[in-house]
Amino acid sequence: MSEDRLIIFDTTLRDGEQSPGASMTREEKVRIAKALEKMRVDVIEAGFPIASVGDFEAVQAVARSVKDSTVCGLARALDKDIDRAGEALKGANSSRIHTFIATSPIHMERKLRMTPDQVVEQAVRAVKRARQYTDDVEFSAEDAGRSELDFLCRVFEAVIEAGAATLNVPDTVGYAMPHQYGELIRQLRERIPNAGKAIFSVHCHNDLGLAVANSLSAVINGARQVECTINGLGERAGNASLEEVVMAVRTRADVFSCTTGLDTTQIVPCSKLVSNITGFPVQPNKAIVGANAFAHESGIHQDGVLKHRETYEIMRAEDVGWSQNRMVLGKHSGRNAFRTRLEELGINFATEEELNAAFASFKSLADKKHEIFDEDLQALVTNQGIGAENERIKLIFLKVCSETGETPNASLVLSLDGEERSVSAEGGGPVDASFKAIDSIVESGTELLLYSVNNITTGTDSQGEVTVRLERGGHIVNGQGSDTDIVIASAKAYINALNKILAPSDRAHPQGNV
Ligand code: KIV
Ligand code: ZN
Repeated sequence: MSEDRLIIFDTTLRDGEQSPGASMTREEKVRIAKALEKMRVDVIEAGFPIASVGDFEAVQAVARSVKDSTVCGLARALDKDIDRAGEALKGANSSRIHTFIATSPIHMERKLRMTPDQVVEQAVRAVKRARQYTDDVEFSAEDAGRSELDFLCRVFEAVIEAGAATLNVPDTVGYAMPHQYGELIRQLRERIPNAGKAIFSVHCHNDLGLAVANSLSAVINGARQVECTINGLGERAGNASLEEVVMAVRTRADVFSCTTGLDTTQIVPCSKLVSNITGFPVQPNKAIVGANAFAHESGIHQDGVLKHRETYEIMRAEDVGWSQNRMVLGKHSGRNAFRTRLEELGINFATEEELNAAFASFKSLADKKHEIFDEDLQALVTNQGIGAENERIKLIFLKVCSETGETPNASLVLSLDGEERSVSAEGGGPVDASFKAIDSIVESGTELLLYSVNNITTGTDSQGEVTVRLERGGHIVNGQGSDTDIVIASAKAYINALNKILAPSDRAHPQGNV
């Protein structure tokens, strides 16, 4: 790769998944990975294989499905983590192991309870072990933003010697200021004797809203890999947003002496897919991918844009994939056309029964909504929950009555652990009544943290996409549901969230105690 190429390392499937409630199934990860591959992302971090059997299988499935991007697995600097990552990545065309250990005084003393010498020794050992699986090894100094410069230089020099090709400098807690962080990268490149043998990478969190600014400052100072996520998803306030980094580098080519290899027209479709799967809506004023990012409300702006686009627009909406909304299927489309389009979107059905069930849902959607877009298909598949046949709760029937001056009422039939139960309940509105009816059967003891409705496409016949976030005993999940009827979409979303919270989870967090 030439010197002026900026490597885009996407960690939506790993750090993005660490957002409370954003966990994804294996099939969902494969769909997102295929979309990232289509966008020509260089490296896809698919997960943390040792976290659980499900995480291992998800990384393995991504490794087997993606051909053009490098697939990466995260591992703490521990033999067992590295072996698990190496195993999960076996089927990949091109694989990377990303191993890390904390280097800041506070993390070494309080979390790891290790001396600096022990940390260097463990880092070197981890890189050497990872090299037994792949030539492409990345080393991260966790909490580099608060680490001592001399110590960072020492660790990085040692891991380059041990075979690391990429050195990642995470601002794990989002503490850095752009000028300091840029300077840190410059100093590291100047002071480490073998720095020329490795690529410097940055990984910034957004706690102070500076993740993108810090990443860009690092790029100006010679970093040649940026770790980022779609929609800025990620732990706490999130990671640097891929779309903002990529479009800043492209739009301000006068400032950055590097380019990415991305097909930027895939940005908006990918953003919508991630939002649909994780249930994290995109705020309307979000740069690049927000619904208002290219909308001109004030008359003065509209007039200017109509006369000459560049008076108020620095990018073209079509360059980031807006206005790609085209009808792909309709009422008369057959099973083959349906299957082919889904395969193009990275969705493959394991069995004919799954395909038949999804096709039946498509037909009933096409009866209500004549033009079907890719976003509708994505939502339909998310709704269908491929691989979710073991879910405990299923919605069989729902009827709501809502009229002026009367208390709304919902009657429904649910299947809970295979047994059908009927109930009706009243509520402040039809959604409230439906949720109360579901609660009276499931008695989950959860707290509702968020309820939001968005339209998937435009027009009043659009499907409503509902997100429900629930919490129980510190465990947070997001549920999604979509339908042209938003009350049904809401019930589906609530049931989806309940199914997730009722499923046992044994996942380890990569940055928890070792
Ligand atoms: O934020 C962080 O430090 C991380 C590391 C695991 C790279 O996510
Ligand atoms: Zn992180």
